[in-house]
Amino acid sequence: MTDNPDLEAAYRLSGPDGSKQLYAAWAETYDSSFAEDMQYRAPQAVAECYAKISGVSPVLDLGAGTGLLGAALVQQGIEVVDGTDISPQMLVEAEKKHVYQSLFEGDLTQRLEVDEGTYAGIVSSGTFTHGHVGPDALEEVLRCMTSGAWAVLSVNATHWDALGFEDVLKCLAPQIAEWRKDEFALYGAGAKGAHAADTGWLLQMRKA
Ligand SMILES: C[S@@+](CC[C@H](N)C(=O)[O-])C[C@H]1O[C@@H](n2cnc3c(N)ncnc32)[C@H](O)[C@@H]1O
Repeated sequence: MTDNPDLEAAYRLSGPDGSKQLYAAWAETYDSSFAEDMQYRAPQAVAECYAKISGVSPVLDLGAGTGLLGAALVQQGIEVVDGTDISPQMLVEAEKKHVYQSLFEGDLTQRLEVDEGTYAGIVSSGTFTHGHVGPDALEEVLRCMTSGAWAVLSVNATHWDALGFEDVLKCLAPQIAEWRKDEFALYGAGAKGAHAADTGWLLQMRKA
């Protein structure tokens, strides 16, 4: 049985099958019932950060969802943005925003249908979080990037600690020229509920 689609249910997920089920039910109302109500800030924060440190395209948006990050990137002047997500229903909503050059289904816990070194930049908001995608996917992120490309990924702060992102980054050190992280508020001052004050890291990682 599918939970009511909301943030609590999303944080209770435990992998790809649950994600597919939950986001199929949430796709049509996600922008209004979650992003607007919580004053969700991650897409804007990732887009601004990417534009500041790189701005180069083509860019791939991982876990693109309904396309909020794609829209924010285009507002920042990023020219070519592709998107991928495990949920076909979320991609239908993303398509309606007319900001992506190409959208395709993909599971970040597996190999994506992307040739090695295809993208000059990679971004993601809200997908590296509880029950969704963990640090094991960072190797696949790097595989899809050209040498010298930047990735900007929002990572829920408690998820970062619980799943040991820092240890995985240490293991991947030979593939990474540099990385840093900046903390940000995931939701606006008007957000309500138990997660209103949650924070995330903006992980910025440049491929060697
Ligand atoms: C909280 S939403 C974020 C969507 C969008 N990036 C945003 O910021 O609004 C998380 C997204 O991750 C996707 N997702 C969850 N698990 C995934 C996986 N294993 N591979 C690819 N996408 C996944 C979900 O379908 C959903 O669209």
